[in-house]
Amino acid sequence: MGRLDRRVAVVTGAAQGIGATFAHALAAEGAAVVIADIDDGGPVARAIKAAGGRAIAVRTDVADEQSCHDMAETALNTFGTLDILINNAAIFGKLDRVRIEEIDLALWDRIMAVNVRGPFLCTRAAIAPMRRQKYGKIVNICTARVFAGGPFFLHYDASKGAVLAMTRSMARELGDDGISVNAIAPGSTMSENIKARTNWMDGGPAAKIGARALKRLQEPEDLVGAMLFLSSRDSDFMTGQTMVVDGGASMW
Ligand SMILES: NC(=O)c1ccc[n+]([C@@H]2O[C@H](COP(=O)([O-])OP(=O)(O)OC[C@H]3O[C@@H](n4cnc5c(N)ncnc54)[C@H](O)[C@@H]3O)[C@@H](O)[C@H]2O)c1
Repeated sequence: MGRLDRRVAVVTGAAQGIGATFAHALAAEGAAVVIADIDDGGPVARAIKAAGGRAIAVRTDVADEQSCHDMAETALNTFGTLDILINNAAIFGKLDRVRIEEIDLALWDRIMAVNVRGPFLCTRAAIAPMRRQKYGKIVNICTARVFAGGPFFLHYDASKGAVLAMTRSMARELGDDGISVNAIAPGSTMSENIKARTNWMDGGPAAKIGARALKRLQEPEDLVGAMLFLSSRDSDFMTGQTMVVDGGASMW
């Protein structure tokens, strides 16, 4: 028996990277999983089904209200309810490090649309069934950079600062309906796009390891325990919190 039997989870940005790792882990705990990505989530959904789990891929642009609404409708029509939302999609892995003076304004706006409006729109689309059943789990993916500070990524850091603030405000607003909202703030994690990165400008993986109390690379699997905890009954009296999972680089 899994910790999430009979639960239905949406993971945004799960066509690959950390989101795909989350989708597999949720399915392994018994949840039916909706892979909501602007890219094709079909291969991840098929891999979950091949392993005996339940999953569908729904092409979704989290920055688009209609797209988020349609995704939530598909989740409800397919699996009957919606219990867990992991707001993981972001413009991140292919983003170049850049100095403040060189940040393109159109890119700044797109990052805000995906990384800030995205979790807002997905939450808005997902909360009706959670309110009806007086239970739901929302997990927003932030970044430990918000706690540590860091150069050359101001557009991204600003968007994730908003995610932290939204986590707290959502938690206050949705608590009366039994919906908890928490966040995970990962350190630099070796997802596919991060492994492929060449433009680090801030020392790269060696510098990240050196800043940690636990001196090794961080893998997507290192985030799974916190994500399952915040998605399950184990965390039912916890809301508005941000769990930093970064090997002890930031401490607060
Ligand atoms: N990898 C790290 O070092 C790290 C560190 C801290 C936080 N994070 C956060 O973890 C999450 C996942 O990280 P990752 O390394 O897998 O990132 P990634 O960039 O590799 O993956 C992001 C996913 O989001 C999807 N996406 C992008 N725009 C979208 C949109 N408009 N609608 C729907 N889907 C969209 C992409 O297709 C992709 O599958 C992100 O929120 C990221 O900010 C990552």
